[in-house]
Parts: sequence; structure tokens; C-alpha cells
Amino acid sequence: MKVLGIVGSPRKNGNTQILVNSILEGARQAGAETEMVRLADLKIRECDGCHSCWKGRPCVKDDDMNGIYDKIAASDVIVFGTPVYWFGPTGLMKLFLDRFVYFNCPENQAMVQGKKAILAVPFEDTDLETARPLVDMFRKSMDYLKMDLVDVLLVPGVTRKGEIKNRKEDLEKGFVIGTCFSR
Ligand SMILES: Cc1cc2nc3c(=O)[nH]c(=O)nc-3n(C[C@H](O)[C@H](O)[C@H](O)COP(=O)(O)O)c2cc1C
Repeated sequence: MKVLGIVGSPRKNGNTQILVNSILEGARQAGAETEMVRLADLKIRECDGCHSCWKGRPCVKDDDMNGIYDKIAASDVIVFGTPVYWFGPTGLMKLFLDRFVYFNCPENQAMVQGKKAILAVPFEDTDLETARPLVDMFRKSMDYLKMDLVDVLLVPGVTRKGEIKNRKEDLEKGFVIGTCFSR
């Protein structure tokens, strides 16, 4: 199995990256092939709704997303990692998800249909409700794309960079989620 981890936080080695890595670590231990992509390292521009990608043509933006489409198509599982930013995902993650319009046409939809997805979300508030709009948005988007959101890992109460390292139980949960994806 191939597991692709997407880190949507701009903060390098921050809580999201550590959390996504715990899931990938579990998958690696179980024998899966893993890769992590930090969206902040890439140039991904906004979808402007031209729908060129629905006419069998590549996205006119011609940016790093074109390489990611291939990685998504080649993966069995996508781990979406984003902190809560104003009750939603980061801007990086939203731009990334907007570009999934590419998969929303008959020519391309088979590339993601049935693919498993995991959502991993650290955030400052201790109230789980804070993450609800973000989780709802992902759940509805995955349903719409006929992807299978198999797990949502929420880690409330983490603020400072790397603070999640103290949350051994949550990182262990991530590891265990990853071990479900073996060879
Ligand atoms: C612009 C911005 C907006 C944020 N909005 C929220 C929020 O609405 N609710 C919340 O609980 N935490 C919020 N946070 C805190 C982050 O979710 C938290 O610090 C998280 O652990 C950061 O993860 P990272 O280290 O991967 O970037 C916000 C942080 C920033 C920088």
C-alpha cells in the first residue's frame, strides 16, 4: 500500500507535521510505502474555476499541483493534516482541496473514488466542537468525491510549535491508525 501524507501547516516541524508523521510511521512499520508532502514547500495556486481540467486537459495553472495529482492517483491512502485556523483548515490546505475540482469530472474521478482518507487535526482549543466545521467540510468533500474518510484524529489543546510531542497517547493513536495500512 502507498500512503501519502499531506501537511497543510505552514509551520515546519510543527504539531501537524509530527501528527501526520506518527500515522506514516505506523504505516511504514506495517510494511506500507509512505511519502510526506509539505504544502508550504510547494507552489500551489488557487483554482479559478476555468474547468480546463474537465475537458481532458491538464490544469492551466501549471504549478506543483500537477505533480501531486500523479502522487494522489498512485496512492491508496491520503492523510490530510491541517491545524484549525479560524474554525477551518489553513489557507494552504484549502487551496489544495479546491484543486480537487480536477477529480470532479468523469475522466478523472476514478483516480480518487474509493480511496481511503484520514484527517489529522491539532488545535489550541480544548473544546472538540471547535474542529467541527473543518471536519464537516472534509467529510462532505470526501463523500462528494466518493472517497472513504476512514478516520478523524483530533488533538485539542496544543498551541506551541512541537508541543504535541508531549501528547504520547495521541501520537500512539496516530501510529495505530497507520498500522492498518500494510503491504
Ligand atoms: C492563523 C491562526 C488561526 C488559528 N485559529 C485557531 C482556531 O480557530 N481555533 C483553535 O483552537 N486554534 C487556532 N489556532 C491555533 C493552532 O490550531 C494551533 O496552534 C496548532 O497546534 C498549530 O499547529 P501547527 O504547529 O501544525 O501549525 C490558530 C493558529 C493560527 C496561526
